[in-house]
Amino acid sequence: MRIGFYQFCPIFGKKSENLEKIKNVLSYIKTDLIVLPELCNTGYSFQTKKELAKFAEPIPDGETTRLFINLAKKGKMTIVAGLPEKDKNYIYNSAILVLPSGRVFTYRKVHLFSEEKFIFTPGNNKFTAHKAGKVKIGMLICFDYIFPEATRSLALDGAQIICQPANLILPYAEQITVSRAIENRVFFIMANRTGEEKQGKKHYHFLGRSQIISPTGEILAKADDNEETVKIVNIYPDHALNKKVTKYNNVLKDRRPNLYRF
Ligand code: ACM
Repeated sequence: MRIGFYQFCPIFGKKSENLEKIKNVLSYIKTDLIVLPELCNTGYSFQTKKELAKFAEPIPDGETTRLFINLAKKGKMTIVAGLPEKDKNYIYNSAILVLPSGRVFTYRKVHLFSEEKFIFTPGNNKFTAHKAGKVKIGMLICFDYIFPEATRSLALDGAQIICQPANLILPYAEQITVSRAIENRVFFIMANRTGEEKQGKKHYHFLGRSQIISPTGEILAKADDNEETVKIVNIYPDHALNKKVTKYNNVLKDRRPNLYRF
């Protein structure tokens, strides 16, 4: 199975330009799965809910999801990408998983980062792995990585590949996601963005360094901090079905949930 990420720098507030750029790149790649950054169609640094509301879209009927459905069908690939989602009066920091059939699954970011709490509503749905052809895929968004329970929940639901659209700001994810992959024996695609955004008092530098990690912690592909790039690797997703660390240890079956305090 070919899996990859597209790391780039979305331009803040320029949705049509961002979508045009995404369309151009995704029309020419050959892969089974591609992951794009968090809020990849709009940029990140919204200052108010009102400003954000102008860019948020319904899923699956908004123009961004419709574009991804077309690209997934034409390229016979599965796409995971982040976008602001509008549903009634709520706005979520969401990711969509679009299958080559055009079917769409949505994940709403559960653990909002910093001032995201003032403009987004946190997701309230259980972490769920979705069937995509012969594999099961789970979604996280950016800061979710720092809560091991999130990746664990997806692994317990059978996810073999964790897709993480991200706009990383803190320096920890590069290391922590390797641990998340190892401790759950899953593939992990961290698709980050690059660049800077300055909007009012908000000033962010995004770290790039997207990576694909194997269930035993090898870095199978890696981007630099600033490059715009697509990286694709070949994997055997069934490797993520083997949860054994030794002949006698299984990372899921050896858990002792009755002793854990949550
Ligand atoms: C983040 O969750 N965008 C840091």
